[in-house]
Amino acid sequence: ALPADLAGRHVVVSAGGTREPLDPVRFLGNRSSGKQGFALARTAVARGARVTLIEANTGLPDPAGADVVHVGTALELRDAALKAAADADAVVMAAAVADFRPAAYAQGKIKKRDDAEPGPLALVRNPDILHQLATERPAQGQVVVGFAAETDDVLANGRAKLRRKGCDLLVVNEVGEHKTFGAEESEAVVLAADGGETPVPYGPKEALADTVWDLVVPRLPVP
Ligand code: C5P
Repeated sequence: ALPADLAGRHVVVSAGGTREPLDPVRFLGNRSSGKQGFALARTAVARGARVTLIEANTGLPDPAGADVVHVGTALELRDAALKAAADADAVVMAAAVADFRPAAYAQGKIKKRDDAEPGPLALVRNPDILHQLATERPAQGQVVVGFAAETDDVLANGRAKLRRKGCDLLVVNEVGEHKTFGAEESEAVVLAADGGETPVPYGPKEALADTVWDLVVPRLPVP
């Protein structure tokens, strides 16, 4: 039987990757498929939670039983996350949020000028949504979970990121050319602010999602 250990809880999950527009036809984006975030949403529904899924550019059909909010950019994702987090017991930031966005948006399509070298592309920093949620904790006792994709020194970099972000749990994925992004399966280690370290063997993203909820449940606020 499925554990209903998230019954009566509201959880917020972000999934996918933000797109930061340059003009009406172009954007800066990333390769996040959204599969891990959708697996987190599905497993939370199965465990009895009320789920708000904030979806960014996945092209995936809305999962059954979740309230889905569609967003495009990092700023839209932040607004949706802060709104949904106001009464959430847990927030899991699985989305790949662009660190930077173009400093200006051109109302018309940017033209190439045959005679000229391309000009520089000015960027500005996007807000760090995970850091904001983790440090502000919009709801009392809320559990905040982040994801990190690292290519080297996975554990040391993960520990440092967990501290910097201020979250309770950080799911660290080792990424490489053929690892994790867009794949059906992944391997990870879940680091906890209290020192815990849970390795998750290579396997379906659903299994990693269930491990995340297994670690969230004992940290939830007393109802
Ligand atoms: O700093 P880095 O991008 O590696 O951190 C990844 C984690 O932080 C993910 O959980 C991602 O959703 C979150 N993040 C965020 N806002 C940003 C950048 C990342 O919430 N601007």
